[in-house]
Amino acid sequence: EKGGFDTYMLKEIYEQPSALTNTLMGRLHDDTGEVDLDIDLDPSSFKRITIIACGTAYYAGLVGEYLIEQLARVPVEVDVASEYRYRQPLVSENTLVIAVSQSGETIDTLEAIREAKRFGAQTLGVINAKGSSMTREVDDVLYIHAGPEIGVASTKAYTAQVSAMLMLALWLGRARGTLDAEKGAELLRAARELPRLVEESLQPERVANIERIADKYKRARDYLFLGRGVNAPTALEGALKLKEISYIHAEAYAAGEMKHGPIALIDENLPVVVVATESFLLEKTVSNIQEVKARSGKVIAVVSDGDEEAARYADDVIYVPRAHEMVSPVVNVVALQLLSYYTATLLGRDVDKPRNLAKSVTVE
Ligand code: F6R
Repeated sequence: EKGGFDTYMLKEIYEQPSALTNTLMGRLHDDTGEVDLDIDLDPSSFKRITIIACGTAYYAGLVGEYLIEQLARVPVEVDVASEYRYRQPLVSENTLVIAVSQSGETIDTLEAIREAKRFGAQTLGVINAKGSSMTREVDDVLYIHAGPEIGVASTKAYTAQVSAMLMLALWLGRARGTLDAEKGAELLRAARELPRLVEESLQPERVANIERIADKYKRARDYLFLGRGVNAPTALEGALKLKEISYIHAEAYAAGEMKHGPIALIDENLPVVVVATESFLLEKTVSNIQEVKARSGKVIAVVSDGDEEAARYADDVIYVPRAHEMVSPVVNVVALQLLSYYTATLLGRDVDKPRNLAKSVTVE
């Protein structure tokens, strides 16, 4: 049932190219540059959008915030469902509340949706599990079609959720007239490349390099993850994955925040994973790498193929396929999933059943 893999988690990491194909399939129309999500809600009726979710799904929501604000120019806020449900949210019928959930059964997210509906919001679920409770509570569903996810640590659901957020941003941007046809077509082509780029990320030499790095740093007590812009959530997701399955303490920050506190943690024992792929802000991220090095931290840089400038100051480099910045979170996170996976397995952890965690959290 694990299809030749040792664990469900590894199987699901490797299923990502086909899962993403299913997420995107039939929804992106190259010829017209249009995105067809089969959503009945009126995209021009929203004045603001709130995304609610928990854990990994929340990080997919943070990527969604960035993409929707950039492409559709609608104000977006993202909240963890356990906070949202108790904070008497400001909602009107012009608010779209998007719940992101793999299982569709997470109690906090379900209750947050109910709360939003009481205040009159329109609701959309970005959900994996067909027929789950959440699918019946929301006004409309965008299924991510990632297939069943059994490993407790979410992998393929995350990349599929992020891809779904990208499609939503494209759909909203086109419908609201903030995204012109040419830019829309460019991003649509970039999205279409995702299954192939993720497939490339899983090439044996790349995976072996990540396993080597995991082995080198597996005795670290703490890890720091940094990223910027659309990849700030990639850092958060990388840290969460490492904590969940290896039990190594990890923190993540938007790279620009490093100076405002976490820099005090840096010494020769601290591995710092920096997402430093192609970006209009790459220069700033490279200075962060130099700042870490100046304090003897160990830098593991995630860098776009061929970018020697970004790789130059790092102790270890994980090269990833070049991707359009707007779609790069999907590609970049795969490297961090593998880093956590190998760190955990080299430490002898049971990655499919990490201690204290349940696959879906149906009690508060
Ligand atoms: C992390 C993880 C959890 C879930 C969270 C939400 O690997 O799996 O953080 O993402 O419990 O679950 P869903 O998406 O089912 O609502």
